[in-house]
Amino acid sequence: MQGERIPIGEVTLNVVIRGEGEPILLAHGFPLDHSMWEAQINVLAAEGYQVIAPDLRGFGGSDPAKDKTTMAQFADDLSRLLAKLNVTKPVTFCGLSMGGYIAWQFFLRHRTRLARLILCDTRANDDDEKVARGRLVMAAEVERFGLEKVPGTMLPKLIAPITLEKNEAVVAALQAAILRQDPAGVAAAQRGMAERQNVVELLSTIDVPTLVICGEVDAITPPDVMRAIADAIPCAEYVEIAGAGHMAPMERAVETNTAILNFLKSN
Ligand code: MLT
Repeated sequence: MQGERIPIGEVTLNVVIRGEGEPILLAHGFPLDHSMWEAQINVLAAEGYQVIAPDLRGFGGSDPAKDKTTMAQFADDLSRLLAKLNVTKPVTFCGLSMGGYIAWQFFLRHRTRLARLILCDTRANDDDEKVARGRLVMAAEVERFGLEKVPGTMLPKLIAPITLEKNEAVVAALQAAILRQDPAGVAAAQRGMAERQNVVELLSTIDVPTLVICGEVDAITPPDVMRAIADAIPCAEYVEIAGAGHMAPMERAVETNTAILNFLKSN
């Protein structure tokens, strides 16, 4: 989808904006860009929402990242973007996985800008040493060798086996999205995720209506992890998307959109 380049201070972000109404901010996962929300953007816009789907710093058509992008930096970028777009109404922040890590920071740092949270296939804990080390290794590898091998290793984890086998459109879209990312941006986000904050203790303080969405066979952030998040947030609903993996909004777009719209209309 064609976006517009919006300067927000030290960087310029590529942002797709569609529709009018209550604002919904869509924060993509790793190592992707706004295109992962393709099946949500027009549907939500047609339902009367202003959809704001940026490429995060270092991804898609946005400016390159430096050595490391922290989750707090991403969250601050998004707050600056809203200011730049004159969005004064509190937003529904919808983030998938890395987008969810950014959502926690947005809650901590920009609470007055927040009306609701939608957390798709994400987690609240930080990395253990082994996972963090693995991220630093991947960061160095993509800087050296590029992203060519990444779809082959990531896709079986990102999507359900049935999606991998039968849904050529989703497989092709994910492969293309990964391959067009800038290795420096991918490496910077990995380094940022490796040192992200554990926010498990924060969950009980979340005071906005929250929807937790998880793919039934998500291998990265499985249902037990997501259900525990929903249980810990006082005003959260949990929806499991049958047959979907980690990329539920792409794999089962109709069901995910229904869950999102039901939540928006009743909260
Ligand atoms: C994502 O989908 O954004 C990633 O799985 C996040 C991560 O690597 O922890």
